[in-house]
Amino acid sequence: MEFHVLTLFPEFFDSPLSCGLIGRAIKAGHISVTVHPLRKYGLGRYRQVDDAPYGGGHGMVIRPEPIAAAFDDILSRHPGLWRIILTPQGRLLNQQIVRTLAERRPGLLLLAGRYEGFDERVRSLADEELSIGDYVLAGGEIATLVVIEAVARLVPGVVGNPESLREESFSNGLLEYPQYTRPREFRGQRVPDVLLSGDHEKIRRWRLEQAIKRTLERRPDLISNKTES
Ligand code: ADE
Repeated sequence: MEFHVLTLFPEFFDSPLSCGLIGRAIKAGHISVTVHPLRKYGLGRYRQVDDAPYGGGHGMVIRPEPIAAAFDDILSRHPGLWRIILTPQGRLLNQQIVRTLAERRPGLLLLAGRYEGFDERVRSLADEELSIGDYVLAGGEIATLVVIEAVARLVPGVVGNPESLREESFSNGLLEYPQYTRPREFRGQRVPDVLLSGDHEKIRRWRLEQAIKRTLERRPDLISNKTES
């Protein structure tokens, strides 16, 4: 799967894209990530991308022309990319949206915003606007990386054992069950006997019960959302 990022800070992405799961996925050719500097599409001699807001107010606003020029250029070379802008005003990202992006979109073009925001007309250039949570970051770069990592994990081949995707939190609408490894006892806390029993059916049922219990305790909204849909 192809990811393209449009940003004022291309260097921001160097380290996150070079290590761990994403670094390996790029090296193995399962995904590609191309970072495009927004400045390249800026206006005039100084490659201006922002300006003061009409009507007054503090901060600078990103102008629409550099973004339109960048989108046109990138899409002319990589047709069919799904255009996403990252802002706190977007639809709240969840695993269902991540799954749709991984399964239905041939590639993503992600725009990371900065400053006080975009000119309102930038919104008409995108297919979708996403937020990663109800808080405000200094810019969309980290949000862009969140989308890339969450989507890339679902691209076939990226996660070595596909079984682990099936079992993890949210994949079945529940939080993940508790996991244990050695030692059998740690500061007075013992590994539950059932996990040492070797009875796979019993273990499967215990894990499901624990996942339901944990979800009810911590995220009851996930269960009520499930029955409504
Ligand atoms: N840019 C700034 N805050 C953001 C957020 N919460 N989600 C996505 N993009 C952002």
